[in-house]
Amino acid sequence: MIKASIYGASGYAGGEILRLLLSHPKVVVAQATSRQFANEPISLIHPNLRKKTALNFSHPDDLKKCDILFVALPNGKSMYLMSKLKKLAEKIIDLGADFRLHKQSAFEHWYGYKHENPKLLSDFIYGIAELHREKIKKSACVACAGCEATVSILALYPLVKHNIIEEKIIIDAKMSSSQAGLKPSLSSHHPERAGVVRSYMPTGHRHTAEIIQELSPFNKNLDVAISATALDMVRGLLVTIHAIPKQEVTEKDIWKAYRNEYQNEPFIRIVKERQGIYRYPEPKILQGTNFCDIGFEKDKITNRLVIIAAIDNLVKGTAGQAVQAMNLMFGFPETMGLEFTGLHPI
Ligand SMILES: NC(=O)c1ccc[n+]([C@@H]2O[C@H](COP(=O)([O-])OP(=O)(O)OC[C@H]3O[C@@H](n4cnc5c(N)ncnc54)[C@H](OP(=O)(O)O)[C@@H]3O)[C@@H](O)[C@H]2O)c1
Repeated sequence: MIKASIYGASGYAGGEILRLLLSHPKVVVAQATSRQFANEPISLIHPNLRKKTALNFSHPDDLKKCDILFVALPNGKSMYLMSKLKKLAEKIIDLGADFRLHKQSAFEHWYGYKHENPKLLSDFIYGIAELHREKIKKSACVACAGCEATVSILALYPLVKHNIIEEKIIIDAKMSSSQAGLKPSLSSHHPERAGVVRSYMPTGHRHTAEIIQELSPFNKNLDVAISATALDMVRGLLVTIHAIPKQEVTEKDIWKAYRNEYQNEPFIRIVKERQGIYRYPEPKILQGTNFCDIGFEKDKITNRLVIIAAIDNLVKGTAGQAVQAMNLMFGFPETMGLEFTGLHPI
């Protein structure tokens, strides 16, 4: 058994890591931190975990050594703490944005503030197992991808790698409210948030940087644009991606590219059915699961390729991705603790 602790465990990502780890057969949760709720029972904030654990939240100042530390703090916080945290655990998985980008200049360009610990950037492996499995297995530090970046990269990686699409890619992302984290704001207040189809970031989404970083080894000239819309859902993320297929590309080529990369991937499913209600990926039926569902349709009239992909932002988009990486880092079966198939109807 390994001892795992979570720094920032009262938040949504931290709570989801707790949910997954408390049912993981090879993990004992040692500590889960919160400043606001230190010494209070975990189930006070995460009521789904009632009777699953008797632990109380610890204050971050009381963190002790463990085998693996999950860091689930808001963006821009872990870079101040990471040197210290590395002394507490041999292995660290950071869920925030601070160590996802390899280049300091890219971080500072997209986040608009100085990186406080650029020396550590090269220690971190980007956390998407489907792209970096072998490196993750050998790494001590993993930076999990942003949720919007995760679903977009997984949808696009085979197409860019196999030269299926042109460089211009437009991602239309539909986001849920849990992506904004636990801290309320005026825009997340129920009367303002309920029922919305709010275009909140038509341009300039920060996850563009991660998508370019991860796909540029296969094509240096990618031109990626994201438009993000907030929908009235608590969990889930759907992207509809518009790309231009290369002239000679057939539907068979697209299938082949996805099969080549994903046929043995336990958490990727190609969803493109002729009949049924859920003919394309649908975030609703992925809630709580670590799946990324990907579908596509080639529009012969306009020569457009539409790729549709969905995840649960809190699972494959963060905590599930982190547990998948942990399994690789410790040599556990990759799917351990991540077998939940979702609910239907939900
Ligand atoms: N939500 C998502 O869908 C999602 C998806 C992908 C990635 N992520 C990433 O996961 C990370 C956490 O996101 P979240 O949505 O879980 O955020 P959140 O709900 O706001 O939770 C943040 C956690 O960090 C603690 N915290 C906040 N400021 C702190 C500080 N200065 N020092 C120590 N602890 C502090 C909070 O607890 P106390 O204030 O009680 O200490 C809380 O436990 C983010 O970096 C985000 O980019 C989130």
